[in-house]
Amino acid sequence: MENSAVSPSYNYTVVRQFTIMSVVWGIVGMLVGVIIAAQLAWPVLNFELPWFSFGRLRPLHTNAVIFAFGGSALIGTSYYVVQRTCQATLAFPKLAAFSFWGWQAVIVAAAITLPMGYTSSKEYAELEWPIDILITLVWVAYAIVFFATIARRKQPHIYVANWFYGAFIIAVALLHVINNIAIPVSAMKSYSVYSGSIDAMVQWWYGHNAVGFFLTAGFLGMMYYYVPVQAQRPVYSYRLSIVHFWALIAVYMWAGPHHLHYSSLPDWAQSVGMAFSIVLLAPSWGGMINGMMTLSGAWHKLRTDPIIRFMIVALSFYGMSTFEGPMMSIKTVNALSHNTDWTIGHVHSGALGWVAMITIGAIYVMIPRLFDRKQMYSIGWINAHFWLSTIGTVLYIASMWVSGIMQGLMWRAVNADGTLTYNFVQELVERQPFYAIRLLGGVVFFAGMVLMAVNVYKTIVAERDTHGDDNVLQAA
Ligand code: HEM
Ligand code: HEM
Repeated sequence: MENSAVSPSYNYTVVRQFTIMSVVWGIVGMLVGVIIAAQLAWPVLNFELPWFSFGRLRPLHTNAVIFAFGGSALIGTSYYVVQRTCQATLAFPKLAAFSFWGWQAVIVAAAITLPMGYTSSKEYAELEWPIDILITLVWVAYAIVFFATIARRKQPHIYVANWFYGAFIIAVALLHVINNIAIPVSAMKSYSVYSGSIDAMVQWWYGHNAVGFFLTAGFLGMMYYYVPVQAQRPVYSYRLSIVHFWALIAVYMWAGPHHLHYSSLPDWAQSVGMAFSIVLLAPSWGGMINGMMTLSGAWHKLRTDPIIRFMIVALSFYGMSTFEGPMMSIKTVNALSHNTDWTIGHVHSGALGWVAMITIGAIYVMIPRLFDRKQMYSIGWINAHFWLSTIGTVLYIASMWVSGIMQGLMWRAVNADGTLTYNFVQELVERQPFYAIRLLGGVVFFAGMVLMAVNVYKTIVAERDTHGDDNVLQAA
């Protein structure tokens, strides 16, 4: 898969840029997460400033962590992986540079317009139409660079990581364009062409596949390259990776209606969403098992290598959240979990446990190689980061499970005469301690991110590695 002789001709400039910005946006996005977690615990922290209020900062958080942190990591790693596995230099370097600067421009535009209150009001697609058009242009440039590099490959084989990245690129293009079709009425205001139940259906077809393709397929591409590289072993089952790929992309597309249970969406559509969500457990766990078993015969590495630990724990959280999701999609379970903190716990077991931890692992693998250093500045700090991330994630999701299930049970409790046992405020008061615990979890996770940023900085300014090839990936 690798050939060190050709590595000098790879275009690492754009990969370095995306990787560094992923660290930067990770810190910014999670800092905003910490702020909104504090606002939920103590609403006085909204300071009665409209631009600083929870309602405006929440979409800033989701956009920053998903599209700025996750997006930069995905585009950067895909440019790295496609070059190395195809043994070809990135096609169209100017277009690749445009994809970097264009994506950063989208992020800056989001960071300005969301606090100002401009929003399309579609979750995870809040940005207004001029920014949506820029996203489309950047995405088309990204797709051209990625697929043209594959077309120029010197390897007949297309490694499975590229299949996942490719599906992510195509699906996100489709989702973004269809969900954002709107009629502009002014420079920063537009109205969706969809309305009512159709609007809800299109929005959650988009929303769920944003999870399926942005937060899952792309990161599985990352997993299929960086886990074998770091474990120095071939992927456990290549056949399983192909079955996993086709099953995952075929099933994900139909699961969206589980976000609309007990709504005005036709009942049959809700049931289709539920059935496909339950089926989704199988390909999801196929991927998790394939990743974990790649370590078979090398489990001892878990004792000594904190980067492998990040990856295996990420896969464990992936398995956990893809077990929890199908359970929550069962209508009777959803009747309890919907609109409660349980959903928020589920989101962050996927987001912190899976998405952030696999990304962090990949960043630690790449930084020394991209900057030609022997290894990261401090392995001890990576280990400390691992524990901060794991403890932070557990504090976050455990507090939200307790809070969410309590919330659901208190809302449905009725007295013998049929009246509600608790009013909303009584239930809200009970939630407050768990919001403080979630904030603590967030602060701990965030502290790990800061440690990573310092480690990355120290690695880059450290003396250049003169041993040359020691740094070149020896992939399976
Ligand atoms: C320090 C880390 C983080 C903290 C403290 C944090 C905190 C929060 C808070 C307080 C909310 C609002 C919850 C509510 O409305 O009740 C939220 C929502 C959300 N966060 Fe995070 N977050 C963090 C990291 C992340 C990361 C890394 C991702 C994604 C990769 C992420 C994705 C989301 C999403 C998708 C939502 C919306 C959930 C929904 O609408 O159901 N967060 N976060
Ligand atoms: C087999 C896989 C999965 C299934 C079937 C699934 C299912 C679900 C269900 C039923 C909900 C609650 C919908 C509601 O009551 O409103 C939900 C919410 C959510 N899930 Fe998952 N989930 C899966 C995996 C994941 C993963 C791996 C992530 C993140 C990386 C994730 C992120 C989210 C987000 C962000 C939401 C909140 C959406 C919102 O209301 O804003 N899910 N999921």
